[in-house]
Amino acid sequence: AAQSLEEIGKTIEKCTKCNLAKGRTKSVPGEGNHNPSLLVVGEGPGRDEDRTGRPFVGQAGNYFETWMKAIKLSREGDFFITNIVKCRPPENRDPLNEEIEACLPYLERQIELLQPRVILCLGRVAAYSLLGLSESLTLLRGKKHNYHGIPVVITYHPAAVLRNLTLRAPVWEDLKKVTRLLSEG
Ligand code: URA
Repeated sequence: AAQSLEEIGKTIEKCTKCNLAKGRTKSVPGEGNHNPSLLVVGEGPGRDEDRTGRPFVGQAGNYFETWMKAIKLSREGDFFITNIVKCRPPENRDPLNEEIEACLPYLERQIELLQPRVILCLGRVAAYSLLGLSESLTLLRGKKHNYHGIPVVITYHPAAVLRNLTLRAPVWEDLKKVTRLLSEG
C-alpha cells in the first residue's frame, strides 16, 4: 500500500533490506519541510548522523547549512534533506550498488510525496544513483538534468569542498542555478 512520509520514516527506522542495517545505530530517513521547494540529496549518513538519526548534522552538514543560509533557505521553511542510503556505510565507504538498489525505492517514494520544484544532488553518488549516470561530476555539472520532469542541479559534496577549497567557486555557481530555478516557478 502507498505510504505517507511519516510511515516511510517508520519503515526506514526498522528496515533490514540490506547489510547496512546490522552496523547502524539509527537510520536517517531525512527531515525538513514537507511541502518543500527544494529537495537536497546526499550520499549516506556519517558518524554524527548515525548517532542522532538526523541528516547532515556533522561537520559537512554544518558547512552545507552555510551554503543554504547564503541562498536564504532553511530546513524548516524551504527544503527537505535526505540521502541515497538511509543507514551509515562502515567507515563512511561509498554505498555498494546492492545497498543503493535496496534503498532507492524509499527516496523515489519520498520524491513522489514531497513534489519538490528542484532537486539538488550533493556529490557523485547522489547524482549517479538518482539519475543513473556515470560521467565525471565535472562533466555532469555543466549539463541540464531532470528526474521525472523535476530539474536536478548537481554539485560537489560539502565534505569534498572542505578538502579542496578551489571547489567553492563552482559550488557557488551551482547554488545560483538553484536560486534561478526556484524563482522561475
Ligand atoms: N554526508 C552525507 O552525504 N549525508 C549526511 O547525512 C551527512 C554527511
